[in-house]
Amino acid sequence: MMPRASVLVVEDNDLERSITVETLREEGFAVEEAALGRRAVELLGSTRFDVVLTDLLMPGMSGEEVLDAVKATYPATQVVVITAHGTIDSAVKAMKNGAFYYLTKPTDRETLVMTIIKAAELANLRQENTLLLRRLEGKLEIEGIIGQDPAIVEVVKIVRKVAPSNSTVLVEGESGTGKEVIARAIHRLSPRAALPFVAINCSALPDNLIENELFGHERGSFTGATERKIGLIESADKSTLFLDEIADLGIGVQAKLLRVLQEKEVRRVGGNESFHVDIRLLAATNRNLADEVAEQRFREDLYYRVNVVTITLPPLRARRSDIPLLANHALNRFSHLAEGRVKEISREAMEVLLDYSWPGNVRQLESAIERALLLCEGERITPRDLPDEVRSRKLAARTGTRSDRFEIPPEGLNFENFERDLILQAMERADWVIAKAAKMLGMTYRTLQYRIDKFGLKRGESRVHATD
Ligand SMILES: Nc1ncnc2c1ncn2[C@@H]1O[C@H](COP(=O)(O)OP(=O)(O)OP(=O)(O)O)[C@@H](O)[C@H]1O
Ligand SMILES: [Mg+2]
Repeated sequence: MMPRASVLVVEDNDLERSITVETLREEGFAVEEAALGRRAVELLGSTRFDVVLTDLLMPGMSGEEVLDAVKATYPATQVVVITAHGTIDSAVKAMKNGAFYYLTKPTDRETLVMTIIKAAELANLRQENTLLLRRLEGKLEIEGIIGQDPAIVEVVKIVRKVAPSNSTVLVEGESGTGKEVIARAIHRLSPRAALPFVAINCSALPDNLIENELFGHERGSFTGATERKIGLIESADKSTLFLDEIADLGIGVQAKLLRVLQEKEVRRVGGNESFHVDIRLLAATNRNLADEVAEQRFREDLYYRVNVVTITLPPLRARRSDIPLLANHALNRFSHLAEGRVKEISREAMEVLLDYSWPGNVRQLESAIERALLLCEGERITPRDLPDEVRSRKLAARTGTRSDRFEIPPEGLNFENFERDLILQAMERADWVIAKAAKMLGMTYRTLQYRIDKFGLKRGESRVHATD
């Protein structure tokens, strides 16, 4: 049989506690007990109860403090206080502070049971309410874009405005900020929505394969081309073509793409016929395309074609108010990982999430929640379930470049590795624009260039120490 409700009994007097616990068990409740307020709070750290029944006067932590702890962690849980005759004042005060009801000692069985039943009913209603609210929060999502922070609301406005047109849109933003989410939303809100969204990641394949994917080929156009292949550009006809990581497109392919955009025609590799195509182009980059043009890695003429409307996605740290929404969304999305057992993120854990800088943005937040769901043993995610780097933000700040005086960590450091890491970090932040990174490090262009060569640094290399 399903227990009626779960109750935590907090009472320092052993005899009274065991009588109450016994009574409630006989009545079909699932009961846990604590002789001290501190123990109660510990139990609350891992389990959600429908009702907490607590004595007011106890050595150490008082019943009022237990009440505060419950309200802070589980607003839906109802607290019933028990008080000895003559201390009604404090019971009334407890009710003002959010207790459901108070009982005076000695309590008769019927009153006790009825009060607990009523409290449990209210707890369940409140719980359902929070679930409903959480579902309502989904309403803050437009076409899969979650957020209410002014920075993202502004983005959504632009999305709505440009979606119906045919204009090319460039989505810029750090990695994991939701560039693909935005591109898909534009497609879905456009007249082309009925046809499939065609996407290709330009950094995933070498140039010749990208070209083959985009343009297709005729049979026999090269050894191994035993069949004709229709390219993505052709298959995106009358629909949307999304070029992800467009900055990584090789210069040769850039020229061919430019021709498609200018002439609205595509020719398969090895073919001598051109086909008219009507595509709407969307592109994304996590680098600054203007810088890429300045460093001659991206064709200027193509840049002007692509950059008709630019949507710049804010990094997560610039829209912190969305962290709880996104974290709860991820919790729902991955709840199956814990068989639906984990219901919420504790306030402490949420504070940790709100405090962190999220260099990997929404994607990193999602994987932190995903991991927490796998580690979490109770019904709530606690700071313990979060990755070290998220929890030890302060540690990272200590080795960061922002502090005026750098402190050597107690465990010491390898100077060579440290220098290499700092340079790599600066280059990553500067999107590999040497001039920018040099400024960040207070070095001349030539000095930095020399060091990059000395360490043989390349894009995508990992650091020895994580200093970000
Ligand atoms: N506003 C948002 N609402 C809901 N989910 C989001 C939002 N932004 C990002 N996400 C989620 O975060 C993850 C990363 O998003 P996406 O792949 O669009 O980012 P990206 O900017 O393309 O990242 P990358 O540069 O790494 O390719 C996805 O799982 C996506 O669903
Ligand atoms: Mg992406």
